[in-house]
Amino acid sequence: MSKPIYERVLIKISGEAMAGDNKFGINDATVNQVCSNIKKLTDMGVAVGIVVGGGNFWRGRQGSNMDRTRADHMGMLATVINALGLADALEQLGVPVRVQTAIEMKQIAEPYIRNKATRHLEKGRVVIFGCGTGNPFFTTDTTAALRAVEIDADVILLAKNVDAVYDSDPATNPDAKKFSEISYKEVLSRNLKVMDSTATALCQDNNMKIHVFGIKDPENLVRAVCGEKIGTIVS
Ligand code: GTP
Repeated sequence: MSKPIYERVLIKISGEAMAGDNKFGINDATVNQVCSNIKKLTDMGVAVGIVVGGGNFWRGRQGSNMDRTRADHMGMLATVINALGLADALEQLGVPVRVQTAIEMKQIAEPYIRNKATRHLEKGRVVIFGCGTGNPFFTTDTTAALRAVEIDADVILLAKNVDAVYDSDPATNPDAKKFSEISYKEVLSRNLKVMDSTATALCQDNNMKIHVFGIKDPENLVRAVCGEKIGTIVS
């Protein structure tokens, strides 16, 4: 088996990825495939933190007539559903896991405490961070950047539905150019939709590497951690 090049990673899984082909809700088979690859990472001794989105249940911008703060609160709750779903799938595979939420809901999960999270990671437990940053107007991409920096991760593994960063949307432009490497500065100046600008700037300021790749093949998680040249590296 190939060797991991990272000791500690923060995986960002989009809500859409939890839905698989269903486009809504949680697709058990998809989530199990993703989790069995996360198990391969923990079996290799890699410490894994996870931030999951909520778009498979609710998107802040969906509530266009709603107060943005309230719509974002609903989105945060959607991330908790996904966090619990992932935790359950991982536990069924025998992976120890703890869920921490940025907004306290103690009956359901631990509150987010950075030092406790890093202790869990040291003990080989996967830690899933729910509720985003706990603030409206911030995305789960920004949460991924923030938690990655806080837990001192080596890289953010940005597992997306597209397989890399392109100079334009590959779904609409067949001539879209794929980047294998790109700088934060270029992502920001060309307004490439890798992460939102807040998240990208946070990574840039803290020198946090981002590896973007497609999650349709969940084995890409292992490939990325073993240093295979898939997707795009933002650094
Ligand atoms: P150690 O301190 O390393 O033993 O970690 P631990 O997580 O095993 O111990 P702890 O006693 O903190 O937690 C035992 C179980 O209770 C774990 O499944 C935790 O996730 C859970 N737990 C701890 N604190 C809370 C909380 O505030 N709310 C909820 N819902 N569960 C909690």
